Amino acid sequence: MINETHYKESAFFMGKNLTRKILEAHLAKPSDMKPGEEIYVKVDQTLTHDINAVMTYLAFEAIGIDRTQVETSVSYLDHNLLYLDNKTPDDHIYLQSVAKRFGVHVSRPGNGICHAVHVARFGMPGKLSMGGDSHTPHGGSIGMLCIGVGGMDVATAMTGVPMRLKMPEIIRVNLKGHLKPGCNAKEVILEMLRRVGIKGGLGKVFEYVGEGAAGLEVSERATITNMGAEMGATTSIFPGDEQIRKFMKAQGREDQYVEMLPDEDAEYDGEMEIDLSQLNPLIACPHQPDNVMPLKDAEKKKVQQVFIGSCTNASYSDIAKVALVMQGHHVNENVSCTCAVSSKQVYKQLLRDGYLEILVDAGVRILEIACGPCCAIGQSPATKGVAVRTSNRNFKGRAGNPTAEIYLVSPESAAATAISGTFATAEDILGDDVKKLAKIHEPEVYPVDDSMIIEPLPEEEARKVEIVRGPNIQPLPVPEAFTDHLCVPISLKTVDNITTDDITPASAEFSSMRSNIPLMSKYCYHRYDPEFSERAKKMGQSIIIGGENYGQGSSREHAAINPMYLGVRAVIAKSIARIHKGNLLNHGIIPMVFDDPADYDKLEMGDELEINDLLNQMQTKVVEVRDNTKGITFKARLELSEKELEVISCGGQLRYLKKQLGK
Ligand code: F3S
Repeated sequence: MINETHYKESAFFMGKNLTRKILEAHLAKPSDMKPGEEIYVKVDQTLTHDINAVMTYLAFEAIGIDRTQVETSVSYLDHNLLYLDNKTPDDHIYLQSVAKRFGVHVSRPGNGICHAVHVARFGMPGKLSMGGDSHTPHGGSIGMLCIGVGGMDVATAMTGVPMRLKMPEIIRVNLKGHLKPGCNAKEVILEMLRRVGIKGGLGKVFEYVGEGAAGLEVSERATITNMGAEMGATTSIFPGDEQIRKFMKAQGREDQYVEMLPDEDAEYDGEMEIDLSQLNPLIACPHQPDNVMPLKDAEKKKVQQVFIGSCTNASYSDIAKVALVMQGHHVNENVSCTCAVSSKQVYKQLLRDGYLEILVDAGVRILEIACGPCCAIGQSPATKGVAVRTSNRNFKGRAGNPTAEIYLVSPESAAATAISGTFATAEDILGDDVKKLAKIHEPEVYPVDDSMIIEPLPEEEARKVEIVRGPNIQPLPVPEAFTDHLCVPISLKTVDNITTDDITPASAEFSSMRSNIPLMSKYCYHRYDPEFSERAKKMGQSIIIGGENYGQGSSREHAAINPMYLGVRAVIAKSIARIHKGNLLNHGIIPMVFDDPADYDKLEMGDELEINDLLNQMQTKVVEVRDNTKGITFKARLELSEKELEVISCGGQLRYLKKQLGK
């Protein structure tokens, strides 16, 4: 629970930024809060979604606590709504019953994408939330501090124990001016990605301020905070200001609004500035979201598919602007154009205002309200197809077809592209008329209808709920504890920027296997190295060698669980992405980085690596590894805090937590 008094007191000491204020109000132990220091915070809210959550709730069951201990926990059924066979419905029935059992809200299929619904119906300025999804920072759009973590971390947060967090550097991003019509908040975040790159946000929170920030509505802010994940940032946040009050009033929740602003003389660890009026439509080219260029300079390729949707860019104003670009035009005959709206309330408002009719008339195929194509659940592009999407990731294979090229743009540019059949901007279609887009704003009152949210049961009743487990719900595998001597082969050596999509592919087929690790592990690294699973299994135990930024992208903890199930005991990489490092730890895989990155080049798949005195060496955070095949020795570092060391020494978070709760 946030200490309101604390907020008032902290206003007394001048010079605090908003992130620091929120973290300080949630500190579970006193701390100087120096960047890089480990802090412990109390979590107010948790969020899970269907394709990651089964493991979270299996872990929560295994921990043995009777009910979620945070103020609000919500389980969203929103990603995989294609019931191809029994697997996903099995998952959804389990998730609905386990939520009832443990006091968790359920947002039913059809209610909307988790982040959009959470901001609209549950989020509040000043709260601290942790979600089992890397785009949880979406909630920073309403002045809330929202951090994406692995599913095991969500289960841990639900026990009420304070959560570990590395105190981030807080970067002030001063937004000046106003976006031109035809430019979207997507341009702002693509510009950020162009400037700082996919690793530029590591260990940082981006706090957006200034008159440009004040002029952005919540849905625009959400596009920016959502895609902060693509920079590897801990999170991103906007002030809890008048825009938030207006939004919460439109949601019928003005009484839950709390003003949350940085002090006028707030100190920051770094500073950036973007003049919104200077931005023009941008495009992120394959296969990384920071591969950004002006859209007008992109080679005019023949576009096969346009997808307008996802948590990033499927708000009311996004889709209404798409409709205004489309009005009087038709989707090009060579383009398949689909649209998935972010939530039921937005869908209803667009329907009332006639925008969906314009889209249907223009030949846009309206999809179910869900994540869907964003994570390859339907609408895969054709072989070598050029796909243009308003979503947030363009990794190879992210759309379900590794031969396709995915380009990321704003909804306005996506609509223009669908009409033209090649990359185009709204201005290319509308000319001077592009100014009419500036008239679109979020509704003053949303058609709020919470009938698709199942409220938690009172405690007594909840205890009587039977948890339903269909055949797809398999037990959570628990890693073996470590012994002192490890002598195992390298089962895989990867290139830089391996994504969790590479490790655990997304698609309707694969996503429905996530509650069945024996089955899903067969497809581990399926698109990157189809023989990996069999090879790792034959090896019994093994080590993976990674390049830079290993495990970037989605928070998907299956990218740790599957290798662990296949016997992977350690990953040694040049660097490891934040959420994935946490997932490796939680699931008993030692995350290590090369002391000298040049050693990466000396190793090959199949080499035998030996570590003596492993448990003692781990405590020093530097481990000597001998490559018996090459006859060389190198050092690997464990960039872990003392607590994290304890977790990995126990063999993972589940073993650690049970030990702690036992005490
Ligand atoms: Fe869903 Fe894609 Fe967002 S999978 S939560 S719409 S990143």
